Amino acid sequence: MSRSAVTSAPVHPLLAERWSPRSFDPSYEITDGQLASLLEAARWAASARNIQPWRFIVGRRGDETYKAVHNALIGFNQVWAGNASVLIAAVTAERLEDGSPNATAAYDTGLAVAQLTVQAHAEGLHAHQMGGFVPERLAASFDIPEGFRPLAVIALGALAEADRLPDETLRARETETRARRPLDETFFAGSWQTPLGIG
Ligand SMILES: Cc1cc2nc3c(=O)[nH]c(=O)nc-3n(C[C@H](O)[C@H](O)[C@H](O)COP(=O)(O)O)c2cc1C
Repeated sequence: MSRSAVTSAPVHPLLAERWSPRSFDPSYEITDGQLASLLEAARWAASARNIQPWRFIVGRRGDETYKAVHNALIGFNQVWAGNASVLIAAVTAERLEDGSPNATAAYDTGLAVAQLTVQAHAEGLHAHQMGGFVPERLAASFDIPEGFRPLAVIALGALAEADRLPDETLRARETETRARRPLDETFFAGSWQTPLGIG
């Protein structure tokens, strides 16, 4: 079944066909080469003043880092994310070198993660970002210093069949129609909420 985005104009297949599954193949191993490509895609993201506020903690299934990142997830995510080949925690440096707040830290780090997810799709893999984790648990496990804020955990791996998910709610979500807010409620011109009218 296609999970491709329904768009009013053509979109690059890497973007149209990216989606966030929960059913990952528990036996699939990501190669070092694949992982290196994903991390390079993140590293080369744009950032305000090239500050690159992002840091990433990377665990492979079976290692201690993976276990600790998995342990920091909320229960709903723990149920399915443990089959992913890799779990990555995205962390951002909230302050500039002079100690003042970096207003674009989260924006920049999200951009780096976006690049990673698209590169994952280009490698034939899938990525699923999660905000459902306990930051304090992650901070404690990895001694994340003051001033660095965990923003998300990303599960990466190879797609598996939806019916391998452990409960009906998850199986239904895996196949439900993907949707987005309409163009006219998203893109404005002239004044706030006046539709741009393209698409
Ligand atoms: C910052 C962020 C946090 C998210 N948190 C969770 C989460 O905790 N658990 C989950 O199952 N999905 C999570 N998602 C996945 C979204 O639900 C998903 O991206 C959205 O429904 C759109 O689906 P798509 O990525 O397949 O297009 C998160 C996505 C983002 C970008």
